[in-house]
Amino acid sequence: MSTPALRVTELIKDFGGLRAVDNISFQVEDGEFVGLIGPNGCGKTTTFNCISGLLEMTSGKIEVLGEDATGSRPDQIQNLGLTRTFQHTRLWREMTVIENLLVPPRRQFSPNPLLALLRPGSRTNERHRVADAYAILDMLEISHMAHNLASELSGGQSKLVDIGRALMSSPRFLLLDEPVAGVAGPLAERIFQNLRSLATETGVGMLVIEHNMDFILRTGVDRIIVMDAGRILVQGTPDEIKESQSVVEAYLGDAGAAL
Ligand SMILES: Nc1ncnc2c1ncn2[C@@H]1O[C@H](COP(=O)(O)OP(=O)(O)O)[C@@H](O)[C@H]1O
Ligand SMILES: [Mg+2]
Repeated sequence: MSTPALRVTELIKDFGGLRAVDNISFQVEDGEFVGLIGPNGCGKTTTFNCISGLLEMTSGKIEVLGEDATGSRPDQIQNLGLTRTFQHTRLWREMTVIENLLVPPRRQFSPNPLLALLRPGSRTNERHRVADAYAILDMLEISHMAHNLASELSGGQSKLVDIGRALMSSPRFLLLDEPVAGVAGPLAERIFQNLRSLATETGVGMLVIEHNMDFILRTGVDRIIVMDAGRILVQGTPDEIKESQSVVEAYLGDAGAAL
């Protein structure tokens, strides 16, 4: 078996007396598009924060693209090729949408397989980067907003710009935290389908947090990891998840009210 793009082993994260992430293990392969789902407060963002090095984990092991990233700093993990977005988007508010995409990413001189697909023949010099940014905005259906100030955008539009910035950074693996929160349903589905195609065709693995189970089941992810109260309730293909009794109980029983 080849090395997974991301492997999380027995991850635990405590905040004082609160165990936010309780001994979870999972992996994501190159080119896989995997949903991480669960009710508010179940530990999804904390898991991302531990993987990306923003939080020191209590115990466990993180491997990113074949390298042991346990205890590494965020910039070191980013240099391995892992890019993440945040649940609460942080754009340059006084810059336009296109300028936000053109702020140089840290790995600007790496070849970008995502862009090779969106815009065959793309290069890393400035003129090409502008065209690359427009190709990404086209894919996200927001190129008509290229010259709007980021401060004028709705929450959903800001999330799309943030996905755009992540795609500009030549990622080899992407962690997206609720990337389509606040984006209208049909557009959100198209974005997911496009991201999924990018993952499959470029080999860039993606782990995507989403809190809406109906949505994630409709969007054709390869696999779903369901968290509840810091633990992994179940992981499997969308069909397996639909059949899972524990998911049905958690989502349709009392816990389901939290969604
Ligand atoms: N920096 C922090 N300090 C203390 N508690 C936190 C911190 N971040 C998250 N938590 C707590 O950890 C739990 C998991 O939060 P989080 O990972 O944000 O959940 P999710 O992303 O699934 O909604 C929650 O109870 C939350 O209040
Ligand atoms: Mg969260």
